[in-house]
Amino acid sequence: MIIAIDGPAGSGKSTIARMIAEALGFAYVNSGSIYRAMTLRLLECSGDPSDVLAVLECARAASIQYQGGRLFLDGRDVNDELRSAKVDAVVAQISAIPPLRDVVNAHVRAIAGTTDAVVEGRDMTTVVFPDADAKFYLDASSESRALRRYNQGVNTSSLEEIERNIEMRDAIDRSKSVGSLKIAPDAFYLDSSGLTIQEVYDKVYGKILHIREPHGR
Ligand code: DC
Repeated sequence: MIIAIDGPAGSGKSTIARMIAEALGFAYVNSGSIYRAMTLRLLECSGDPSDVLAVLECARAASIQYQGGRLFLDGRDVNDELRSAKVDAVVAQISAIPPLRDVVNAHVRAIAGTTDAVVEGRDMTTVVFPDADAKFYLDASSESRALRRYNQGVNTSSLEEIERNIEMRDAIDRSKSVGSLKIAPDAFYLDSSGLTIQEVYDKVYGKILHIREPHGR
């Protein structure tokens, strides 16, 4: 079974996807992390992100593996480096390169395609797994997403700065020529603005149970 979850930055989809994967004993694949790992590799190749051929050569040679929910790039655990400022600064630009998206999509399909999995990102429900068994679009207002990030206390920016940054990332995500953030017509849409993580989880989990066992057997 493939469960695909898309949504904008800060909508809580990574937390929910991880919780659902754990509850069901499914693999969990965060496609944003793979874009981040690719970005890390490209920075190490010391390539210019606007040199598409060099970017692709470097990306195609990357080895990406998921083990125990951790991502290994060329055999190295890179989880602690994926959210660094240097990756943040260029990952949106890198993820907008259409042939680079094909490389990442192939990794996501290879990891998730042979097992039950929860996959999350921006185009899992529309491009990568259009035939997923269960599709969700998790949304939240930019105000509530900014407030969640602010309350996590890991970011030294002001609430207003965080909200501006979120709105800028939304604009980039929605305007990509390929793989832009869209609501799949057959996705279950959930606005989590006024909800706790547990409330969102209960709704998503309930929907999955219903899809797996429509008659409640
Ligand atoms: O979810 P995130 O912030 O870790 O994603 C990192 C970047 O990758 C962000 O710029 C959006 C992009 N992304 C994408 O274009 N397609 C996906 N399926 C997942 C992430």
